[in-house]
Amino acid sequence: MKKYNVGIIGATGMVGQRFATLLENHPWFNVTVLAASGRSAGKTYSEAVSGRWAMQKDIPASMASMIVYDAVADMEKVASMADFVFCAVDMKKDEIKAFEEAYAKLECPVVSNNSAHRHTPDVPMVIPEINSDHTEIIHAQRKRLGTKRGFIAVKSNCSLQSYVPALYPLSDYGVDKVLVCTYQAISGAGKTFERWPEMVDNVIPYIGGEEEKSEVEPLKIWGKVEGDKIVPATSPAFTAQCLRVPVSDGHMAAVFVSFKNKPSKEEILKKWADFSGEPQKLELPSAPKQFLHYFEEDNMPQTKLNRNLENGMAVSTGRLREDSQYDYKFVCLSHNTLRGAAGGAVLLAELLCAQGYMD
Ligand SMILES: NC(=O)c1ccc[n+]([C@@H]2O[C@H](COP(=O)([O-])OP(=O)(O)OC[C@H]3O[C@@H](n4cnc5c(N)ncnc54)[C@H](OP(=O)(O)O)[C@@H]3O)[C@@H](O)[C@H]2O)c1
Repeated sequence: MKKYNVGIIGATGMVGQRFATLLENHPWFNVTVLAASGRSAGKTYSEAVSGRWAMQKDIPASMASMIVYDAVADMEKVASMADFVFCAVDMKKDEIKAFEEAYAKLECPVVSNNSAHRHTPDVPMVIPEINSDHTEIIHAQRKRLGTKRGFIAVKSNCSLQSYVPALYPLSDYGVDKVLVCTYQAISGAGKTFERWPEMVDNVIPYIGGEEEKSEVEPLKIWGKVEGDKIVPATSPAFTAQCLRVPVSDGHMAAVFVSFKNKPSKEEILKKWADFSGEPQKLELPSAPKQFLHYFEEDNMPQTKLNRNLENGMAVSTGRLREDSQYDYKFVCLSHNTLRGAAGGAVLLAELLCAQGYMD
């Protein structure tokens, strides 16, 4: 595989810092440009993140003295310095929509963590093990944008990266109704305990916009490419409650599910054990070997013990048992800034490279 020059937009933020550490020694990607807001522009990366570096690893030596650009004002320069960019910014939705399209129109593909384009009908929203075929919509998107190379591809919200991977392999049984409660880490809000002391010893039963995303986004992932758009599925029906809990990293979900044709517990466990997708087939560098891990112990998985499974790219499941009102209940866990954000976007970019969309 050839090496690609890549940029990180929002490099100073929580997800951007994850991108920096994940890409430091990446076999296919070489970080050539960093960008953020005007507040960081002109500073070195280490100056720009001073006092807010939230990763356990040090600032990558190859990036520490790179000058940070203004992602909007210096757009042409940034786009010219990379074969494609990763994007994770905290801005208004319509600003992000316009700015990601502007990068695409400069023939610089955008692999985005932002929610702004998740419901644009010709923008693929991909969990690479599940709907890798949705990237074929990029041809239609390029036509609309009038580009040869440029396009936008997005990953879904971090909340659903545990329960959608666990439910999708059970599609043969007709997944019908799903009730999910998520227990979400503070890094999902771009925060640490130092910067959000109110979260110590606390639970907040509201995360703005999260429940809607958790209920609606799975239907696009379950959807189909038809002509020049992705048509979302009409089932399963999801209902969600999303809580912020005092955990640094790792989103847990408690799931209740009913099927059209109820499988046995053994059938569910076999589907989970056997499930793999394009990333495993293509042996993409960031792909977990085993995507879904089932824990037999009653007190597992645990956020602190299991969030880093397979470099934070695998999903842990456990406590599968019959329920009195739904067919089954279980719990699942994924790392929100790895599989749920930067790691999921890096895996998506690897898929797009392997499929030839970055050439
Ligand atoms: N954290 C997660 O687990 C997670 C998971 C999935 C998706 N996401 C999404 O990823 C995005 C970033 O989240 P985050 O948690 O990393 O946020 P964050 O820590 O608050 O970082 C925000 C980033 O956006 C940049 N930014 C703000 N205003 C800008 C502007 N006008 N122009 C250019 N850059 C600007 C900031 O640059 P400065 O430092 O210069 O201000 C910073 O780099 C959000 O859309 C979020 O919804 C986050």
